[in-house]
Amino acid sequence: MKKYIFLSIILFIGFSCKGNEPDPTPKPPENNITSLKQAPFPIGAAVNVDALKNDNEYRQLLIDEVTSVTPENAMKMYALSSGRGVYTWDDADYLVNFALENNMRVHGHTLIWYHSNGWWIENTFSGTKEEWIAVMREYIQDVVTHFKSKVTAWDVVNEAFNDDGTYRPSIWYDNIGEEYIELAFRFAHEADPDAVLFYNDYGQEYSFNKIQAINTMVDTLLAKNVPIHGIGLQMHMNINSSETKINYAVNSARNLIVHISELDVSVNTENNPDATFNDELAQLQKNVYKYATEAMLNVNEDLRYGITFWGITDKYSWRSSAPDWVLPFDADFNKKPAYDGMLEVFNQ
Ligand code: G3I
Repeated sequence: MKKYIFLSIILFIGFSCKGNEPDPTPKPPENNITSLKQAPFPIGAAVNVDALKNDNEYRQLLIDEVTSVTPENAMKMYALSSGRGVYTWDDADYLVNFALENNMRVHGHTLIWYHSNGWWIENTFSGTKEEWIAVMREYIQDVVTHFKSKVTAWDVVNEAFNDDGTYRPSIWYDNIGEEYIELAFRFAHEADPDAVLFYNDYGQEYSFNKIQAINTMVDTLLAKNVPIHGIGLQMHMNINSSETKINYAVNSARNLIVHISELDVSVNTENNPDATFNDELAQLQKNVYKYATEAMLNVNEDLRYGITFWGITDKYSWRSSAPDWVLPFDADFNKKPAYDGMLEVFNQ
């Protein structure tokens, strides 16, 4: 019971502590939602800062359609830090300023991950467990402090588990052990007690072992009053993703805030180099976008953080190993059936 009181207090602080962060959730017109910006929960996008700087059509699409942004890469360690205590904030600050100028929420991604760490820490740093804890604490608190009151939520730890539920090897796990997760959340909370802190991962919609591992971790952290407030389900899905498993995954997030944090839906499931996009694939893709939207709508309103696409237009998608068309806007910034499907859910 204590943990739910604790969580309720955190939720109250996290959502009612209105510093100067924008309120990204406009009140939608009754059943006449014509833009994702009017959705009953925040719709966001992972933002490519180079495109934001250089592609006005991309910039305008974000302004027209989303109320939340996540830096695709600009707040990862490799992008921010070229040495211990050495930072370059320009691209991340550019995105934050764009977001705040356009009354958008900024979701920080990501503080501690196995991937995309600074070259310096991967190749030049070594030390005792205590020294690894110290360098992790310094990094987290330097970054969270820099963005304090502008970045209102963080993916504190990203992808700590393998699909089979075992801990994923990383410089953090290998040098600190599994307690790196608890420490990362405590360090982030120390730096910004108002920030809403998430654990983020992929595969909950297909791996029960991963759901179990995440929930065991969450239960352990909550029992120790570790400030973890939300779960990010990345949901990098495909046209074969199961509606039942999507709903199970979203409902598995304990009593924490729920973020579908990196939604995209692949149509080229075989990585066919000669694949082409067509109406049939577009309809199958639309169905999966609808499943995710319906799942988020079914989350208790107080725990509904929203849906963030991993990008917004096929012109700038991370999926490049084979032709694919994973996002709700095509490469010419036209709405796809997936977009219409989300509006259908909101207007039903
Ligand atoms: O900007 C450099 C460029 O200067 C250089 O020439 C080029 C070749 O080395 O690399 C460019 O940086 C790349 C960056 O994307 C920007 O394109 C990095 O190498 C590349 O590793 C990075 O990939 C990103 C990946 O995370 C790893 O950080 C993807 O864009 C990004 O979409 C992807 O996003 C992840 C989430 O953070 C976590 N969940 C999974 C998701 C998809 O993998």
